[in-house]
Amino acid sequence: MNFSDLIEKKKQGKAHSEEEINFIVSSYVSGEASDAQAAAWTAAVYFKGMTLDETVYLTEALGKSGKVINFGVLGDKIIDKHSTGGVGDKVTITLIPLLAAAGLPVAKLADRTLGASAGTVDKLEAIPYLNTNLSSQMIVNQVKNINAVIASQADDLAPADKKMYALRNEIAILNSAPLVASSIIAKKIASGASNIIIDVKYGSGACMRTLDDANELAGLLVKTAKRLGKSLTAIITSMEEPLGRAVGHAIEVIEAIEFLKGNCDNGDLAGLTYAIGAAALLHMDLYNNDAEAVSYLKHLVHSGKALDKFRELIIAQGGAPEVIENYDRFVLPAYKIECEAKKSGYIQEISADSIANAAKALGAFRDGMSKPVDLSVGIYLNKKSGEYVRKGEVLFTIYANSEESAKIAQMYCDNAFSVSESKPSHNSLIYKIVSTKDEDENV
Ligand code: URA
Repeated sequence: MNFSDLIEKKKQGKAHSEEEINFIVSSYVSGEASDAQAAAWTAAVYFKGMTLDETVYLTEALGKSGKVINFGVLGDKIIDKHSTGGVGDKVTITLIPLLAAAGLPVAKLADRTLGASAGTVDKLEAIPYLNTNLSSQMIVNQVKNINAVIASQADDLAPADKKMYALRNEIAILNSAPLVASSIIAKKIASGASNIIIDVKYGSGACMRTLDDANELAGLLVKTAKRLGKSLTAIITSMEEPLGRAVGHAIEVIEAIEFLKGNCDNGDLAGLTYAIGAAALLHMDLYNNDAEAVSYLKHLVHSGKALDKFRELIIAQGGAPEVIENYDRFVLPAYKIECEAKKSGYIQEISADSIANAAKALGAFRDGMSKPVDLSVGIYLNKKSGEYVRKGEVLFTIYANSEESAKIAQMYCDNAFSVSESKPSHNSLIYKIVSTKDEDENV
């Protein structure tokens, strides 16, 4: 078999056999196929698509390209929450301790910062000494001991996905439904999670820009998971505006801790955390009523049990738990600049895309996997959509390490806000939930 012939085949829109997909993945991970060849093939897939069969073959080939974690008898119960990524999306940090406090064994393989989303691994590394680089055995032991782990994708876990995902990021081929679906489910094959709860985002701050694309991806995730014997629920949610108020790394962790302390029970971050959490409890048959599941999750937050679980996780992974009480223990940036509203009115919208550009200008996001990110910088949205701001009041705050980057970020943030006299109507963050448990799979 020859890699160039397979690129040509995909360029012509023809479907690959399982053998061909296995060849593509194994020759790329071994280095026999070059980055340029893999880039050409992924671009051909982007333009010509893949059948469900091809997507299933690719998922298996990526997922089994390295080690597969075995949780033994606990295997069927292991749950993982994933997000396709969004600006200010820190729900993994709010939700994993919450689900673990609810008694679910959660094994989360998290990503580093890619594109316009700050990755959970980088965010957690803002906590001094916290180690996400765990061996398979450490992951299994930690879940057995405290019900929760958030680890980075070790080099031996789905290495082909790691390589291909980073390549797709560099060549801007992230938003292809079959490539995203196979990349996500491959990681769950490797991490040994049988139950997957996934937040599929659409909008200017998401890799799927339109609702139609997100719908297609959610449907494909359900079908692919079902074929591979995984149980999956996908929640389609809007990413037109950053989630919560903090965008960056350390400041997102602080906002997540504030949520776990019960200090921000209103707003989109809490709303989405509870909604996805309830979907997870329903998925695992712990509840059959959404309102009851949400009320249980709120109890876990307000009784301090979810925060205790987060503290246990930090300690288990070698981090400094003092950050929970003392935010000065996070690395702090050189400048804090409070930027005022130029006119009074209601915030109509805040473009996630523009805020992502501001964060990029500050150095919070990376372009290539090898480049470092600045964990201390970010943007705090003092006002969110639907809120009223008076001229001269603080609209947003920039945390920066250079005056030049702060100036560029301020320009992007100024353009991100639209303000006018009328109160905007409230749009629901959640569009639809689809699941392998649905009788009708035609989503
Ligand atoms: N998340 C992933 O893990 N892979 C993708 O391709 C996109 C989002």
